[in-house]
Amino acid sequence: MKELKIQPIKDGTVIDHITAGNAVKVLHILEIPKTSSSIVSVAMNVKSRLGKKDIVKVENRELDTNEVDKIALIAPKATINIIREYEVAEKHRVKLPDEIIGIVRCSNPTCVSNSSEPVKSRFKVISKDPTRIKCYYCEREPEDIAERII
Ligand code: CTP
Ligand code: ZN
Repeated sequence: MKELKIQPIKDGTVIDHITAGNAVKVLHILEIPKTSSSIVSVAMNVKSRLGKKDIVKVENRELDTNEVDKIALIAPKATINIIREYEVAEKHRVKLPDEIIGIVRCSNPTCVSNSSEPVKSRFKVISKDPTRIKCYYCEREPEDIAERII
């Protein structure tokens, strides 16, 4: 039987090498289907050289840096491929910085970053794959980072 593959796209973004099982979290970060009416294809648990991966293809949309930074948190090996006229025009590997500022909410309700003070959340990255982060202020480590993305 012929192998079933998702089709190439003409224009848009292919997020490839997503940690297997995390495609749904990527859709959540991109607020699909809430804010966008683009055609989106998802493949999960696709065989690749390094085990299994997920792929998300979003047509006619190029991601902004804030979205790419969030994807880096839950898919540290992801590549962002910008497709123009069927060709891969740009390919970027996501990069997790050493500090995550303002994109994850601390899970400690009494943390200063959750108070009425104008303090942005701030986390130190203590492991890059799998991602582990620790609050700069209260040292709390969130268990499910994807659930806490702002
Ligand atoms: N792709 C697509 N539509 C296109 C061109 C590419 O959907 N018109 C997809 C491919 O299916 C692949 C990703 O974009 O999932 C990156 O394409 P390419 O760089 O050609 O693939 P690889 O060389 O395998 O990428 P890598 O080395 O990053 O694994
Ligand atoms: Zn905290």
